[in-house]
Amino acid sequence: MQISRNKPWLAPLAGYSDLPFRLLCREYGCRAACTEMISAKGLVFESPGTSKLLETGPADSPLVVQLFGSEAEYCAQAMKLLVKAGFTAFDLNAGCPVRKVVKTGAGAGLLRNPKHLYQIAGTMVQEAGQGRVGVKLRSGWDIAGTLHSEVFQELERLGVAWITVHPRTAKQGFTGRADWGFIRRVQEKVAIPVLACGDLFSAEDAVRCLKETGAAGVMFARGALNNPMIFSRFRQLMDGKNESAVPAHWAPADFKTMILRHMQLCREGQDAVRSLLKMRSIIPRYLKGFPGAKDLRRRIVSAGSWEELEELIGRTALGGEG
Ligand SMILES: Cc1cc2nc3c(=O)[nH]c(=O)nc-3n(C[C@H](O)[C@H](O)[C@H](O)COP(=O)(O)O)c2cc1C
Repeated sequence: MQISRNKPWLAPLAGYSDLPFRLLCREYGCRAACTEMISAKGLVFESPGTSKLLETGPADSPLVVQLFGSEAEYCAQAMKLLVKAGFTAFDLNAGCPVRKVVKTGAGAGLLRNPKHLYQIAGTMVQEAGQGRVGVKLRSGWDIAGTLHSEVFQELERLGVAWITVHPRTAKQGFTGRADWGFIRRVQEKVAIPVLACGDLFSAEDAVRCLKETGAAGVMFARGALNNPMIFSRFRQLMDGKNESAVPAHWAPADFKTMILRHMQLCREGQDAVRSLLKMRSIIPRYLKGFPGAKDLRRRIVSAGSWEELEELIGRTALGGEG
C-alpha cells in the first residue's frame, strides 16, 4: 500500500463504505478505500450478506478489506478465503466499540488484551504476507487502559505495515474530541506509517492534523459521509493551492452533480431496490445546511422510485428557487 500525505483514504464505515460510495469517493480523489467491517466468522460460515460486503470491481482499487474477529483460527481461515479470492490488502478492526462486537472479544475488545491483538494481527500477516496488513485502533479501552508505545512497536515487529489511529478510547465512543497528540506520539514511536483518523470534518482539519501529528496520511470518515467532495478539496490544498483559491463551500450545483452520480453508481449495482431505500436516507445528510432543504428531505425519504428521486434532485435549486 502506498501511503502518503497527499493520498487520502476512505475509512471503513459499516453500513456506508459500500462499492458505490467507495467509487464515488475515488472519483473525488480518494486514494485507498476500506470495505465495511467484515466478520471473519461470517465469511467462513458464508453468512448471507457477507459476500455482498466484498463486492468490488476494477475501478475499486486499491481496496483494503477490513476484518473483525476474536478467534485466530477463524481469522486465518477467513484470510485464506480472501487471499484466494484475489484480495491483497487487509485491515484488522481493533476499534469498534459496539457492544455486540466487543462482548465477543473482537473490535475494541482486542484493546483489553494486547496478547490477543498480537495473535490475530500476526495471523493475518502470516496469511497475507508482509506489507499487506494494517491495524486500525483506538487509543485504548478507557483512559486507564490507554495503549503504551510497546503495543504499537510490537505490531510493527509482527509485520503490520501501517497503523490507523482514532485517538478516542472505546469507552468514549464518539464523545469528546479526538486527541491528535496521541497520533503524534504513536508516529514518533514507530517507523511504519500511521494514518490519522478522528474529527477530520473538513479538508482544512486534515491538513492541520497532518501538520500537528506528523502522520503519514489521513483517513476521512464522517467528513466523507457528510461530503464526499472533501477528498478533492483536500488534494487541492495539499497540492499547494492557496486556501483562498479553493472555494470553501461547494456550489449547490456541485452537490447536485455529486448526489446524482452517487445515485447512478447505486443503480449500476446489483441490488437497486435495496440501495434506493439506503439512498433515501443518505441524501438528506448531503443536503444538510442548504436553506429550504427541509421540505425536499421530506419528499426524498418517501420517494418510491429512482426516477422520482432523480426528478426531485434535478428539479431543486438547493436553497434557491427549488
Ligand atoms: C457510521 C460509521 C460506521 C463506522 N464503521 C466502522 C467500521 O466498520 N470499522 C472501523 O474500523 N471503524 C468504523 N467507524 C469509525 C470510523 O472509521 C472512524 O474511525 C471514526 O468515525 C473517526 O473518524 P471521524 O471522527 O473523522 O469520523 C465507523 C464510524 C461511523 C460514523
